[in-house]
Amino acid sequence: MSTLLQINASIQGESGQSSQLANRFVAAWRTQHPEGRVVRRDLAADPVPHLTAERFGAFLTAPEQRSDAQHAIANYSDTLIEELRRADVIVLGLPMYNFGIPSQLKAYFDHIARAGHTFRYTAQGPVGLLGGKKVYAFAARGGLYAGAPLDTQTPYVRDFLGFLGIRDVEFVFAEGLAIDAQRRDSALNAARARIDGLLEKRAAA
Ligand SMILES: Cc1cc2nc3c(=O)[nH]c(=O)nc-3n(C[C@H](O)[C@H](O)[C@H](O)COP(=O)(O)O)c2cc1C
Repeated sequence: MSTLLQINASIQGESGQSSQLANRFVAAWRTQHPEGRVVRRDLAADPVPHLTAERFGAFLTAPEQRSDAQHAIANYSDTLIEELRRADVIVLGLPMYNFGIPSQLKAYFDHIARAGHTFRYTAQGPVGLLGGKKVYAFAARGGLYAGAPLDTQTPYVRDFLGFLGIRDVEFVFAEGLAIDAQRRDSALNAARARIDGLLEKRAAA
């Protein structure tokens, strides 16, 4: 049975454009995988705390030496990692805020990048431990950045996931959403068509 993990990061919740595109993909995925399991994580509704010295210290402390508070912190991170580890497909609702990813998503990333859990250091450098997954990222933006040097978000997300061993990452962009209504509608229609095409392509494969 295939498991899909949907991670939405829009501060607008379900009405966010990235959430709606991600939802469209997940609805279609469900029809193709009636036996599949969908797990949802809404980082705006259920925010991951920012990483602090206390929280990072809990990660670094050996399990048998952790205080109760440190156990709670490490267990929370372990739960996020286990959820990710169990997923075959990851769907990311990815808004651009102030040139980057939402801080809620960064806090989540800070809780899933754990040495010995999701990557490990070797003499040849770090090795990701979460290979074999497919990520679909639905990137909503007010302006136009894809393929331009100002788009530091896309390479950052690719690099971060690659560090964890997740290299199969497909981006669907909906850009220019703040330019004008016509631009917005055509960008959203193009993104929707792209999503429908992605699933048709997989069904035919
Ligand atoms: C606080 C904030 C910051 C934003 N910063 C950018 C930006 O740097 N570049 C951009 O193209 N759009 C920016 N936008 C526009 C969003 O990318 C756009 O509204 C997009 O739809 C956000 O995704 P969402 O609808 O899923 O939340 C920003 C929007 C907000 C609310």
